Formats: sequence, structure tokens, C-alpha cells
Amino acid sequence: MNTPTLSTLETFAREAGEIIRHGFNRRPGFGNHLQIDYKGEIDLVTEIDKRSETYILGEIQRLFPNDAIVAEESGAIPGHNGSVWHIDPLDGTINFAHGLPIFAVSIAYQHEGVIKLGVVYDPIQDECFSAEHGEGAWLNGEPIRTSATLRLEESLIATGFPYDIRTNPQNNLEYYSRFTLHSQSVRRLGAAAIDLCYVAAGRLDGFWELRISSWDVAAGGLIAREAGALVTTMHNEPDFLNGHDSILAANPTLHAQMLALIKNGQ
Ligand code: IPD
Ligand code: CA
Ligand code: CA
Repeated sequence: MNTPTLSTLETFAREAGEIIRHGFNRRPGFGNHLQIDYKGEIDLVTEIDKRSETYILGEIQRLFPNDAIVAEESGAIPGHNGSVWHIDPLDGTINFAHGLPIFAVSIAYQHEGVIKLGVVYDPIQDECFSAEHGEGAWLNGEPIRTSATLRLEESLIATGFPYDIRTNPQNNLEYYSRFTLHSQSVRRLGAAAIDLCYVAAGRLDGFWELRISSWDVAAGGLIAREAGALVTTMHNEPDFLNGHDSILAANPTLHAQMLALIKNGQ
């Protein structure tokens, strides 16, 4: 059976990153027009998201034709060998479209229910975060670890909000308020894959988000876990890909404090 390695994923992510970097320099206001379509009231997709996804899917289907794929812009493509790829061709699309350089491509490979490999590549910083199940996590080849911050009051944490925030009451604003009052500060970077990698590298102490998709968190979740974070749903279930569509990542001590605040509200 043809099996991918971490370097296979890195090659896909760096090539897709090249498409994104080139597209970033063509964004509106830089002399060129970029095609932007709306999937919802505030949920947009650019031609670069589509181009990045077309490239990655083409490579997976060429090299691993029996594998299933779950990709943001194409939906689910069935497979028949227990392997599933989770692809976000451009995480942080709103940032990208506004010229804010915080975005990445996210690629994860899962086999028989276990996320085996994950790569998140930020083409602007040229930062390639990667992890292999049971082997560790790296930033540009150097091992990374979560922060050692032990008190929520001293922690810098991050979150995000779903695109139906205007209409769905499960909008994360109550948790946002709680965490803002109990941490040092809360950030909203706008790219969940980057949030998780920053937890892995100790730049952020923790991250939570509600109603998130597998392509947003599969690679970053593995990278954070392999860097020492406890990564679960917000109900403390280990299977954050198939749980209650939520994620909570932090070092184990902080994770317990974040979980208590989610449960108890104070
Ligand atoms: C979004 C970003 C954002 C998160 C949203 C995601 P996209 O992904 O990761 O930070 O809050 O839930 O949908 O649309 O930029 O790929
Ligand atoms: Ca995303
Ligand atoms: Ca995306």
C-alpha cells in the first residue's frame, strides 16, 4: 500500500503555500483583482483557496487514489482503505483577503481513526509546523514544546468564532467573556490551525473554539498534542475530530483550569 510520509505532506504544503504567497501579492489594492465569492453572510472564499485546494487534491488523488479526502471547498470524497486526508487549503481566508498576513495551509493524514501526520505551513513567515503521531512536533525541523504557564490568570489564550455568529445562539460570546475575565488576555488571530501551532510552540498558552471543522484542527491538533498539549473537545473527550465539534488545547495543568471554567462558569 502506498503510504505518505511527513515529507510528502510538507511538499504538498510548501507548494500550496507558494500558490498562496503569490496570490497574496495580487490582492486588491496591490494592482490586481482577486476573485472573492461569498459562501455565507460573512463566510468568503477566494480564487486562491480554490487553487490551493485543486493542487493538493490533485496530488493526493494522483499518488493515493484509494484514500478518502475531507476538504473545505470540495466536501467529502469517499475512499476505501481506512485513510482520510483533512485539508484546509487556506486557513485564515478573511485575514488573507484583507491583507493581514496571518494564514496557513493545513494538511492532515488519518489512518484507521488515528491522525498520523500533520503539517501547517505559514507561507509569509516561512514557518512549517509538523508532527508525527508518537514521534514529536517540529517547527522548521526543530522540536517544539507547549508553554509551562501554570495559572490561567497568567495565560495568553486564543479563540475563534463561527461564521453563523449572527444567527446561531451557540456563538462563543459567553465563553469569550469568561476567559477574558479569567486569563491575562484573549486573542482572536483568525486562523485556527495557526492558533493550535502557536500553542504547540508555546507562543500561546491555550486555545478553544466551538463548532469547528475537521480540516481546521486535524493537523494543528496533532501538532499541539505531540508538543505536549492536552487536546480534547470542550467536553473533555479525546476524539476532537468526531466529538462535539469543539476543541480545547493547552498544557495539562491549564487545560484542567480551562475545562473547569467552561463547566462551572466562574
Ligand atoms: C476559519 C478560521 C477562524 C475560525 C473559523 C474557521 P477559514 O477558517 O480558522 O479562525 O474561527 O471557525 O472557519 O474559513 O479561514 O478557513
Ligand atoms: Ca479554516
Ligand atoms: Ca479555509
